[in-house]
Amino acid sequence: MKVGSIVLCAGASSRMKSEKSKMLQTLSGKPLCYFSINNALSLSDYQPIVVIGHQGQEVQDELTNFFGSTIDFVSQKVLDGTASAVKTGLSKLANDCESVLVIYGDTPLITKNSLERLINLQKRSHVPIAMLSTTTDTPSGYGRIIRNQQEQVTHIIEEKDASLSQKEVKEINPGIYVFDAKFLKENIIKLNNNNASKEYYLTDIIKSYVTSGSGFGPIETLDVPYEEVLGVNDYVQLSLASKIMNNRILTKHMLQGVNIIDANNTYIEDSVRIASDVTIYPNTHLRGATQIAAGVVIENGSIISDSSIETKAHIYAYSVLEQAHIGANSQVGPFARLRPQTHLENFVKIGNFVEVKKSIIKENSKVNHLAYIGDSEIGKSCNIGAGVVTCNFDGQNKHTTTILDNSFVGSNATLIAPLIIGKNSYIAGGSTITHEVPTESLAFGRARQVIKPLKKTKKTNSQIKEIDI
Ligand code: UD1
Ligand code: CA
Repeated sequence: MKVGSIVLCAGASSRMKSEKSKMLQTLSGKPLCYFSINNALSLSDYQPIVVIGHQGQEVQDELTNFFGSTIDFVSQKVLDGTASAVKTGLSKLANDCESVLVIYGDTPLITKNSLERLINLQKRSHVPIAMLSTTTDTPSGYGRIIRNQQEQVTHIIEEKDASLSQKEVKEINPGIYVFDAKFLKENIIKLNNNNASKEYYLTDIIKSYVTSGSGFGPIETLDVPYEEVLGVNDYVQLSLASKIMNNRILTKHMLQGVNIIDANNTYIEDSVRIASDVTIYPNTHLRGATQIAAGVVIENGSIISDSSIETKAHIYAYSVLEQAHIGANSQVGPFARLRPQTHLENFVKIGNFVEVKKSIIKENSKVNHLAYIGDSEIGKSCNIGAGVVTCNFDGQNKHTTTILDNSFVGSNATLIAPLIIGKNSYIAGGSTITHEVPTESLAFGRARQVIKPLKKTKKTNSQIKEIDI
């Protein structure tokens, strides 16, 4: 049986009380609806149909960044309920599609495995509707699944329309269904909006089916853990979803040999790749396309985004790395900041309070204390002293600094770019260097020290100022 999918992402998300569409709220570094769509993509025989509406253009643009042209968008013009959204989606459904998976963009924790089981259940039993179900002690806000005495599903009642006794029901509707495509097309148009919200509820299709006397068998339900179907309508639920997803990610890594010292206080996004024998200390955040090779140690409080760290590198505490490459056996921090396009080769040392931006630092070089290296290339085995600044910006343009192999830049030197310092050269501490330094030379760029004997009577500072030195 050929399976299509519709993902509903058009709602106004008013409960979030945010300017930003709920679908674009961030979960594990991705837009909230990414996860439902990604599941649909891997399970359907056709491109998933994504129904957009509220902030539709923004949602489409953001999703295109992730999915390119592998998904199909359709715009719901009037946001008057989930049934209308499905009806809009159906306009793009392929004619030969036999079963349709319908999921909501705000249910990110559902696993591919549960969806696969639901699809198989519908295929096997040939029912027009197969749906997930779960029970929770906190059913408030969800539609309740109502069953008859034979335990057959008779309808779903939304919270707003439920009586007090219906609100007591703990079995809830996760909002994930597989429909027979023909049944869905024929019946979605029959629903009305006679309810508290004056919306066309997709959930009403259950009642419509049950009371139609169509002679089909009962609706099939498949139980899943509540944790998988948590709906995200507000920031409380977003935070809960984030915690659950993070726990899953950390568990996966720990089982693959990553030593996470405190799993309650570590955040790792879905997209991060980590080899075994990596040690991660508490309060570390690993984000985006970060890749970490075997034997790396990341100490407390480091925040690492879109960076690659090679074997046995050591990131000391409270370092911030963004789009940086750290070569094998290199050391960074504590309190270092590596900004985009920083490339450290192997055995490089970047120490405390050092900032590096758009620079290559080659093997065995050291920038150990309080320095700024920007738009630079530093050769092999160089030593950059404390407080060195590459002055890369003239107020209008950026300029580069090149320091060739085995050079030594003394503390507090100011290197005015554009500048080249030749191999095996020395820059005296405290120098301001404005011109090229040739290979194997020593450059001074500072006033000579002057010594004057003090007169017998003690001078004040202002008197000293007037002494002609
Ligand atoms: C819905 C279900 C409820 C279920 C819960 C599970 C209905 C009527 N109710 O309630 O039974 O327990 O999900 O989480 O289906 N959307 C559109 N267009 C619209 C309205 C909504 O695309 O016009 C989208 C939303 O963006 C969202 C999804 O449909 O992704 C569900 O809408 P939402 O308003 O969150 O429904 P709930 O009240 O959570
Ligand atoms: Ca919802």
